[in-house]
Parts: sequence; structure tokens; C-alpha cells
Amino acid sequence: MDNVFIMSHPLIKHKISVIRDKNTGTNEFRKLVEEIAVLMGYEALSDLPTEDVEVETPIETCMTPMIAGKKLAIVPVLRAGLGMVGGITTLVPTAKIGHIGLYRDPETHAPHEYYCKLPDPIEQRTILVVDPMLATGGSAIAAVDFIKQHGGKNIKCMFIIAAPEGLMRLHEAHPDVQIYVGQLDRELNQDAYICPGLGDAGDRIFGTK
Ligand code: PRP
Ligand code: URA
Repeated sequence: MDNVFIMSHPLIKHKISVIRDKNTGTNEFRKLVEEIAVLMGYEALSDLPTEDVEVETPIETCMTPMIAGKKLAIVPVLRAGLGMVGGITTLVPTAKIGHIGLYRDPETHAPHEYYCKLPDPIEQRTILVVDPMLATGGSAIAAVDFIKQHGGKNIKCMFIIAAPEGLMRLHEAHPDVQIYVGQLDRELNQDAYICPGLGDAGDRIFGTK
């Protein structure tokens, strides 16, 4: 599939296996989600545009590449996406951060919006939407719809674990969006949880139930 990138790095695979474990506690879970975001972000941002700028080294003046233009906006899907933001700001400390607040209805699994704010102007930025889980795809599609309605164009999405159903739906709804996935899992269960998955990502990051 064009624009879909499934990670193969053993460090990403290993860390995902650890966060799947129900005995991994909140503290370690949070740390690992951030580390996975660093490793996946390194891959997802490999095409960020650069421009040559003048720098004076102790030896001489040279032209050398730096990240160009209006730079990056990170957009976590609340709540669980917040756990990935620190990993991306480790890579790009100057990134602006937007927020898209969505929760899934427990019965219908449809996303409900409760808070959205994007950095302005959004049009010229590379936008990286982050969320640990892509299940039915409803939340991700709603997040990308919102960003496009507000003028966002160059959009990438990053998920630690995805279900085939959600990946297909997101790709069909937004074929222009690059999708980065740490691990593609087997299927959704009757409650629209990813199998084998890692359970409820928001609860595991924030220690709620
Ligand atoms: C989770 C997850 C995604 C969404 C994925 O959030 O972080 O945003 O579900 O499911 P979908 O692909 O079927 O839409 P949730 O709605 O549980 O909210 P939370 O992060 O506040 O716990
Ligand atoms: N949201 C989660 O946090 N986990 C899933 O498996 C599906 C949706």
C-alpha cells in the first residue's frame, strides 16, 4: 500500500513486546511509549525539508543543512497520544503542538470530539498526528478530517499498534496521508479492542481504569 510504512527495526519490535505485557507498570509503559515514539519519529521525519544555513565552526565558515520552513506541528489525539509527544520533541524541540480531543463511545465505538486546537498557521507545516492505537480507524479519520478542514495539507500519522481494519479505513479515507505503524496486529475483538494489542492505551499511560 502506497503511503503505509510498517516498522521493522528490532528495537521498536522489542519495546512493543514489553508494553504488550499486562505486568508492565505505568512508569515503564510511559517511558517505553516515549522511546518508541523517538524511534518511529526518526523514521517518519526522514523527509523533513532542510535548507543550507551559514555556520562558523572553530575552523571556518560553511553552509550546512538545518530543518527548513515553517517546521513541524505535532498533534496528539487525546489522551493516549500525549504519551508520544515527548519522544517527538526530543527529536524536534522547536515543534509546535496541537491537540485533538476524542473519545470512543463504548457502545458504538464512534469518536466524539471534545477539544481541538491547532498551531496557526497550519497550512505550511508538516503535521505529525500521534496516537498509540489505530483500532476501527474512526478517531484517526476524524482527526485528519479536522486538520484538513483547518487547512492542514502535509499530514503524517504515527501509531504504535494498528488493526488491519483501521489501517485500511484510514488509508481509504485519506490516501494522501503517510501512515507509520510500529506493529500491525491480527484483528479487532467484539469490543473493537486490538488483538493481541496492549489493552487500553490511555488507561495504561495515565494509570486510570
Ligand atoms: C483510544 C486510542 C485511539 C482510539 C483508537 O482512545 O488512543 O484514540 O481509542 O480507536 P479507534 O481507531 O477505534 O477510533 P480512547 O477513545 O480510548 O480515548 P483515551 O485515549 O482518552 O483513553
Ligand atoms: N483503544 C485502545 O486504547 N486500545 C485498543 O485496543 C483499541 C482502542
